[in-house]
Amino acid sequence: MHKLYATNRQLELQAQNLRRQTLSELLCGADKSVRAERLQFYFDSIHLDASKQRLTEETLELLLEWALQCGVEKQRDDLFGGKALNTSENRAALHFSARWPINASAPQSIFGTVKFCAEQRQKMAHLVQQIHSGKWRGVTGEPITDIVHIGVGGSDLGPKLVSETLGDAGERRITSAHYVSTMDGSQLLPLMQTLNPATTLLVLASKSFSTVDTQFNVRTALAWLSEQLSISTEELRKHQVLGVSARPERMDAFGIPESHQLQFPETIGGRFSVWSAIGVSVALELGMETFETLLSGAHAMDQHFQKAPSAQNLPILLGIIGAWNTQFLKIPTHLVLPYDGRLNKLPPYLQQLEMESNGKTVRAGSSQASQVTCPIIWGDIGPNAQHAFYQLVHQGSHEVSADFIAVAKRTTNASCSVSEHLVAQTKLTLANCIAQSQLFALGDDAITGNLAATTDKGYRGNQPNTVIILETLDAWSLGALLALYEHKVFVQSILWGINPFDQPGVELGKKLSTSLYQVFSGNRTASEVFSGDLVDDSSTRLLVE
Ligand code: F6P
Repeated sequence: MHKLYATNRQLELQAQNLRRQTLSELLCGADKSVRAERLQFYFDSIHLDASKQRLTEETLELLLEWALQCGVEKQRDDLFGGKALNTSENRAALHFSARWPINASAPQSIFGTVKFCAEQRQKMAHLVQQIHSGKWRGVTGEPITDIVHIGVGGSDLGPKLVSETLGDAGERRITSAHYVSTMDGSQLLPLMQTLNPATTLLVLASKSFSTVDTQFNVRTALAWLSEQLSISTEELRKHQVLGVSARPERMDAFGIPESHQLQFPETIGGRFSVWSAIGVSVALELGMETFETLLSGAHAMDQHFQKAPSAQNLPILLGIIGAWNTQFLKIPTHLVLPYDGRLNKLPPYLQQLEMESNGKTVRAGSSQASQVTCPIIWGDIGPNAQHAFYQLVHQGSHEVSADFIAVAKRTTNASCSVSEHLVAQTKLTLANCIAQSQLFALGDDAITGNLAATTDKGYRGNQPNTVIILETLDAWSLGALLALYEHKVFVQSILWGINPFDQPGVELGKKLSTSLYQVFSGNRTASEVFSGDLVDDSSTRLLVE
C-alpha cells in the first residue's frame, strides 16, 4: 500500500512537471527520434503510436509500475481463470469464452461456459444454414430475405457496428439485416412500409428478455406481420421469430420454440455480448465464416493481453495512458475519431463499453473513489468531425485527449478506374488523419516558422492523442480492435478499483418511467404516482400535466 501511494505521488509530480511542458517541446526536442520510436507498439497487423501523448519514457515506466502495484496482471489472470470479479452480482465475467476456438482446450474453471458457448455457436451455425438454404421459411412458405434485429444497448450496438463495418468492407451480404433499437418505433415504421412481411424474420435480442424498449418494438412488429399475413401472433412467434437471451424460460413463455432459441450465459454482460449468440444477425447477414473470423481476431487479442509483457501489451498500454490523461493530467473528455466511414458506429459502441463499465465512483466494497474515473467518451468519423467540432478542439477552451483510428490499405472489388479513385481517397483520408494528429499535438507550432502563432487565431495544440493504424479493415482486425478496447476498460477498472461488469446506475430511470407510463396510459392518476413512487416536484408535475 505504501509503495502504491509513493508511485501515485511520483506520478502526480510527473504530471505537474509535464503540465509545464508542451507537446512541441517533447516531440521536437533533441531526443525526438528515439522518443518517437520507443513509443510505437505493435500486435500483428495493429500499430499503436503513443508518441503524441504528454508523457516521457519515465512516466510510462511509472505507469507500468502503478499498474503492477494495482494488481493488473493478477486480476487479468483471475479474469481468464473465471474468478467472480463481478462482485455485486457475484459472478465471473466470461465474455472471452464466447470467442474460444472450437476444440481448443480450456482451463477447468471455465470449461463449462466455453462448452456451452461452443454448443450455442454450433446451434447458431445450424440455424443460419437453415435460413440461408431456405429450409427455415416464413410462415407462408417463402424463404427469408430480411432480418429485423430488435434489441437495445449491448444487444444492438455490437452486432450493428460489426454488420455495418464488414458489410461495407466488401463482405458478401447474404441476407439484409436491419437494426431497430429506439423505443418510439421510429426505426420500425419505415421498415414496415418497405419490407415484405412474408420474407422477414424478427430476431429478438435481449439478455434479460424483459427490456421494455425491445418488448414494445417486438409487439409492434408482430402486430404488423399478423395484420399483413392474416396469421395470429401466437403462430408467428413459432415460425418467424428467432430469440436470443440468457433467460430461456422467458423465451418459452413468449412462445418461441426451443429450436428457434439461442442462449448465452449470465456471465456475459450485455455490452460484451457481440461475440455470443447476440451476434447471430451478423452471421445471418455476412455468413458464419465471417463471424468466426471476427471471433478469432478477438481471441488473438485475448492471448496477447494474457501473454505479452506489460511494456508491450496493447490493452495495458491503452488503459494506463487513458488513466494518465484522466486522473493525472485531469483531461475530462476523450475523443474517438475513426478515419474510416465504415467505423461509423464505433463511437457509440465505445460510449456504452467504456461509460457503462467505468462510469462509476463507488469502488468495489462500497467506498467512494478518491479520484476521477471514466472520462466522457465522444466522437464521430474524423473527416466529418473536421467540418463540425474540430474548431472547438483547436481553438476552444477545453482540453481533450483522442484516439485516431486509421486503416492503411483498402481493398475493393470495384472496377479498375473506380478503384484508382478509391485508393486516392484512402490516401487522402490517411493524410488528414496524420495531419490532424500533429495539429492536435503541436497546434500552431505544426507550421514551420510558427506564423500562425503571431496572429490572434492561435491553434492551442497540446491535445494528447494516440494513433491506431489497422493494416486493413476486415473481420479479424475488427475483432482484435474491439477486444483491445474491452481489455483497456478492464485494465482501467482495476486502476480505479471499480467493478466494470455491472450497471446499477441505469435502474432508477427505468422505474420512474414505468410509473409515469402508467399515468400516460390511463392506468393510474398523476396524484397517485406523485404521492407514491415519484417525488412531487413542481417541474416534473407540470411536464406530466
Ligand atoms: O439498461 C442498460 C442495459 O441493461 C444494458 O446494460 C444492456 O446492454 C441493455 O440494457 C439491454 O439489455 P437487454 O439485452 O437485457 O435487453
